[in-house]
Amino acid sequence: MLGIILLGPPGAGKGTQAKKISGEFAIPQISTGDMLREAVKNGTEMGKKAKAFMDQGGLVPDEVVIGIVKDRLQAPDCGKGFILDGFPRTIPQAQALDRVTSDLKKEIRVVLSLEVDETELMERLCGRRTCTGCGAMYHVKFNPPKAQGKCDKCGIALIQRDDDKEETIKTRLINYKKMTEPLLQYYKGTGKIRSVMATGDIGAIYANIANILR
Ligand code: AP5
Ligand code: MG
Ligand code: ZN
Repeated sequence: MLGIILLGPPGAGKGTQAKKISGEFAIPQISTGDMLREAVKNGTEMGKKAKAFMDQGGLVPDEVVIGIVKDRLQAPDCGKGFILDGFPRTIPQAQALDRVTSDLKKEIRVVLSLEVDETELMERLCGRRTCTGCGAMYHVKFNPPKAQGKCDKCGIALIQRDDDKEETIKTRLINYKKMTEPLLQYYKGTGKIRSVMATGDIGAIYANIANILR
């Protein structure tokens, strides 16, 4: 059971690396951010509740995200393992995850802590573009698409995320420090945490991660 937690601030590359891990190790990426954005897009009750928190750069209430992850982990494609991208983000979420994995007889094998300094995070998030079709991620400077504004894989238009505005990014970074950073300490106690320098070439960072996972 290859259960992986990707921990790191907004813009650290959790989504970028999760997609690579998912491709090679054939386990699903579980991104609470992606699932919440999908719920907002579909106008579900949960989406309506979550939107206000997300637009302000705040965290969605614990019970909402815990419920999403608990359901998702029971899907058949999580049988061999899973990559948690953006969950847990608070101590109560981590405690709930411990209970859920134990109930479902699943195991977290490793917690990868992606480390990037704050000025680079800001630059990454301001320049991020996402494909509305397949979810592929680009950066106007660091990882540009071949044709401007269009996805390399499906040719569909790229958009900027609603919460990637400078003011909202600042709030997200503050909330990360306050609510999520304490998880580093929480997982140090388990001996499962591995820190990964997450600046520089995306492929080189992935090579380090893949080495840890193998
Ligand atoms: P979420 O979608 O999880 O956003 P986040 O944590 O802020 O992280 P990001 O997705 O912005 O960054 P990333 O680490 O995935 O980086 P990426 O690979 O895209 O959450 C959004 C919101 O949902 C939250 O604010 C909250 O409201 C809510 N939410 C979600 N989960 C929650 C939870 N558990 N509890 C409560 N609320 C929750 O990379 C960023 C950019 O950098 C891209 O453009 C990429 O191309 C580029 N890049 C990547 N790697 C490199 C590199 N090595 N060098 C240069 N550029 C790079
Ligand atoms: Mg992401
Ligand atoms: Zn695409």
